[in-house]
Amino acid sequence: MRLALTVNGRASVVETAPARRLADVLREDLGLTGTKIGCNAGDCGACTVLLDGAQICACLVSAAQAQGRSILTVEGLTESGALGALQKAFLRHGAAQCGICTPGMLMAASDLLARRPHPDETAVQEALGGVLCRCTGYRKIIDAVLHVAGGGDATPAVGAAVGARVAKVDGAAKLTGNERFAADDAPGDALWLRAVRSPHARARFTLGSFAALQARYPGLVRVLTAADIPGQNRFGIYPTGKDQPALAEGEARFRGEAVLALVGDAATIEAISDDALPIAWEELPPVIGTAAALAPGAPALHREKPDNVLVTGRLACGDVESAIAGAAAVVAGEYRTAFVEHAYIEPEAGYARRVGDRIEIFACTQTPYMDRDELALILGIRPDQVRILPSAVGGGFGGKLDLSLQPLIATAAWLLCRPVRCVYTRPESMASTTKRHPASIRARIAADAEGRLTAVDFHADFNTGAYASWGPTVANRVPVHASGPYRVPNVRAVARAIYTNETPAGAFRGFGVPQTAVATETLLDELAEKLGIDPLELRLRNALRPGHATATGQVLAASVGLVSCLDALKPRWQSARAEAARFNRGKGVLRHGVGLAAMWYGIGNTSMSNPSTMRVGLDRDGALTLYSGAVDIGQGANTILMQICADALGAPLARLRLITGDTDRTADAGKSSASRQTFISGAAVKRAAEDLRRQILARAGLGEPAEIRFGGNPVTVRQGGDLRWVDLAALPASNETGDVLTGSGTFDPPTTPLDEDGQGVPYATYAFAAQIAEVAVDLGLGTVKVTRVTAAHDVGRAINPTQVEGQIQGGVAQGLGLALMEEYIPGRTENLHDYLIPTIGDVPEIECLLIEAPDPLGPYGAKGIGEPALVPTAPAILNAIHHATGVRLRQVPATHDRVRAALLAAGKGETHG
Ligand code: FES
Ligand code: FES
Repeated sequence: MRLALTVNGRASVVETAPARRLADVLREDLGLTGTKIGCNAGDCGACTVLLDGAQICACLVSAAQAQGRSILTVEGLTESGALGALQKAFLRHGAAQCGICTPGMLMAASDLLARRPHPDETAVQEALGGVLCRCTGYRKIIDAVLHVAGGGDATPAVGAAVGARVAKVDGAAKLTGNERFAADDAPGDALWLRAVRSPHARARFTLGSFAALQARYPGLVRVLTAADIPGQNRFGIYPTGKDQPALAEGEARFRGEAVLALVGDAATIEAISDDALPIAWEELPPVIGTAAALAPGAPALHREKPDNVLVTGRLACGDVESAIAGAAAVVAGEYRTAFVEHAYIEPEAGYARRVGDRIEIFACTQTPYMDRDELALILGIRPDQVRILPSAVGGGFGGKLDLSLQPLIATAAWLLCRPVRCVYTRPESMASTTKRHPASIRARIAADAEGRLTAVDFHADFNTGAYASWGPTVANRVPVHASGPYRVPNVRAVARAIYTNETPAGAFRGFGVPQTAVATETLLDELAEKLGIDPLELRLRNALRPGHATATGQVLAASVGLVSCLDALKPRWQSARAEAARFNRGKGVLRHGVGLAAMWYGIGNTSMSNPSTMRVGLDRDGALTLYSGAVDIGQGANTILMQICADALGAPLARLRLITGDTDRTADAGKSSASRQTFISGAAVKRAAEDLRRQILARAGLGEPAEIRFGGNPVTVRQGGDLRWVDLAALPASNETGDVLTGSGTFDPPTTPLDEDGQGVPYATYAFAAQIAEVAVDLGLGTVKVTRVTAAHDVGRAINPTQVEGQIQGGVAQGLGLALMEEYIPGRTENLHDYLIPTIGDVPEIECLLIEAPDPLGPYGAKGIGEPALVPTAPAILNAIHHATGVRLRQVPATHDRVRAALLAAGKGETHG
C-alpha cells in the first residue's frame, strides 16, 4: 500500500504492506529509531507514540490503521532542536537511567500533559501505566512529570562536581531518540540472522541436509551449525568453566538453546518455519530442579561433573554445633526462591562486520573486554583482531555479562564477509539468556539471652541451569555474606551451584546475596521475636563496626556504616510500627505491617584481581577526553566517572569529553558488575586525572596547590601571583588519539585468596544498608500492597545523590518484584504479560537516606550502590507481611495465592463482606 501520514508535523509517504507494524514503519522505513521495541506484543509500552494526539502502542497498530493520520514520536518533542520542557524535567530529575523506556514514557506523559497540564500523582500513574521501566523504580519519572516547570540545571563550580546533582552527561541523547541502542544501528547491506532453538529441555538431535531448503529459499544465504564455528565452540565466564557451546553439538541441554542459525534476508529467515528444518529430535527425560539433579542415578549434564555439582563454596569459623547447643535461642527455616528474569526492556541485539582480518561487533554488553577475548577464542583469532563497539545498553542488571548473539553474528560475518545483524524477540531473549539462580536454603541462627548472635549455620543449593555461567561466583560470594552484616563468632556456610536442564542462571544484581538475605534476615526477625527484642535493636546489637572481624577473619578498619543506617531509620521505624498497630486495632480484612532488613555487600569480584585502567588525554586545542572502558548500562557510570575526573583534574565538568567502551580506544576497565565501577574505575579515573594534572604542573614548573585553567591553548597555571603557560601546540601529538599529554591510572582492589575454610580478605570494602518496608495485606485475597519503603544506604560518598537515589529506587522496585511477583518458568512465562514486573502503580513512595562513611580507598570515599539497593527489600517485605498477619512466608515470590494459602493454614484467612 501507499501509506500517507504526517509524522512530527511533516507529510510522509511510504510503500509498505498494510499489515506492517507502525513501529516497524517508523523505525525501519522512516529511520525514526527513537521509538523502541521491547516486546512487539503490547506489553512494555516502549513503542508508545501519539496517534492523532492519543498514546498508542505502535507495535499493535498496522500501517493501514495509520493511513492519513498524524503521528508524534519522541523525535518530535524537541523544540527548535533544543530539549522541550518535559525532556528537561526528565534530565533534571534523573528520570532516564538506561533510557530505553524513556521515549515511551515521554510520549505517554505528553499525552497526559496535553489533556491535563497540572496532574496529580494518581493521574501520572494512570497515564504512564502502560509503559514499563526496569531501571528507575518510576519515582523520578513521576517527579519529572509532576514538576515539568521546575528550576534550572545545576552547573557545579570547578572542584565541586563530586557530590553535585549533575544531570547525566549522556542524558540528552536518551531524551531525543538519538541514542543508538543495539537494534538501532546496522549497515544497510547487513544480512539478518535468526537462531533456531530447542523446543525441548533435554534432547539429542541430528541434522539432515539443508540443500533442499536453500534451493527453495534463495534468500537463505547460509545455515550455521556447530561445525561452522571456526575456533572453539565453547564459552563461559571462567577459563576453566567454558562449557557452553555457541551452537549445540548433538544435544540440547535446555529449552531455548540455539542449535543452528539461519542467515539471509529478513523476510526469508522469518518465513522458514522451524518445523520445515531437517532436525531429528530424540527427546530425553530432563533433570528439573536441584533435588532431581542430586538424586542418585541422575543423568550428568556434563561428563566432567558426574554428580552435577558445578562448584561448592564454603566458609567455616569457630564451633557452630557447640554454640548452637549452648544458645539461649535458636531459629531454623527452609526457604525457596525462583528463577528471576532480568526483564531489561531492550532485548539483545547487534551486528557484526568483518574488516580485513578483523571483526567488529556492535552490540549491547556489560563487558567489552571479556567479549573480545571470548569471541577471539570462538573465531580462532587473536584478541586484537576483535573490536567491540558497545551500543547504548537498554538495561543489563547482570544479564548482558554473558555472550548471547555475539558468537552467532560474529561467526556469520566472519565466514560470509558480509555484515550480519540480529535482534532477539522478547520470548527468545527470555528463553535463552541467564536468570537469577533459584535457591533452596536451610539455615539456623543462634543467640545468647541478650540477643548477641553466637552462630549461623547455612546451606544453599543454587540451580545454575544447563551451563556454568556465573555459578562459581554465586557459590563463592554467598558463604561470605551468609552471616549478614553482623559479628558472628561461629559460622558454617556452604553454597553449591548445581547443573539442571533449565535455563542457565548467571549474574543478576547481587550474585545470590538477595536470596541469602531472604533466609537470614527473616530468621533474624524470628530470633528477635523469640527473645522479645525489637528487630531493629537486635540488628544494632550485632551490627559490624569499625575494628570488628568478619566471619572470613577480615578486620574492617573503616567505612562500616550499618549502625548509622539503622540509627537513621529509627524514627520512621518507631512511628510506622505505632501507626500500623493503631490501624490494626480496627476491624476489616486489611492489615498493616512494617518490616526491616539489613544487608552488606562486598564491592568487586570475590578474592580476585579485578583491575580497571583509565586514561585522560589533553589535545593541542586544550580539549580534555576521558577514555573509559567502563560500560554505562543505565547505572550512571559515565556521569559518575566524569564528575570524579573533573574534580581530580581541577577542570570544569563541561570541558570534558567522553569516549567509552570501544576496545580499540579505551583500556580494560573490567565488567560493569559487582557494583564495582564507582569504587574501582572511579579510583582509576582519579589516578589518571591526577597523573595528567601532575604532568601539566611539572611542565609549568609549579606544584600543588596551583590552579590550572583549561580553556584552549595554552593552558594557564597560577600559583599566587605566579602565572605560567603550557603551550600545547609545541608538544608532539599521539598518532592514535591526537592528545599531547595523557594521564593513566589503574586500580585493583587489594584482596587475598580465601583458604579452604573461606578465611581471608575477599573484598577491599563493603556497602551496608537497611530498609523498612510498610505493607497492607488483604486477609481475604492474600494480596500485598507495599505502601512505603525507607532505605538507608552507606555509599561511602554519594558522588551524585540524584543517581544514587535512582539506583536505590530501581533496586527497591526489583526487590519488590522478587518478593511478590516474579517467577520465571521455562515455557510458561516467556513474555511480559505472563512474567510480571512492577509497574508504575506497584512502586510506593521510596525515601532514600544517604549515609556517607567514607572508604579510604574509594574515590572521594565512594563505594558502590547498584546491587546493595536491591538486597534488603524482599526480606523487609516478608518481615512486614509477618508483622501484619503473623504468617511467615518462606518462599518467594509471595504471590497472593501463596499468601492466601499460608493465611488459611494459620487460620487467619478472612473473607470479604
Ligand atoms: S514494543 Fe510495543 S508494547 Fe512492547
Ligand atoms: S530507564 Fe526505564 S528501562 Fe531503563
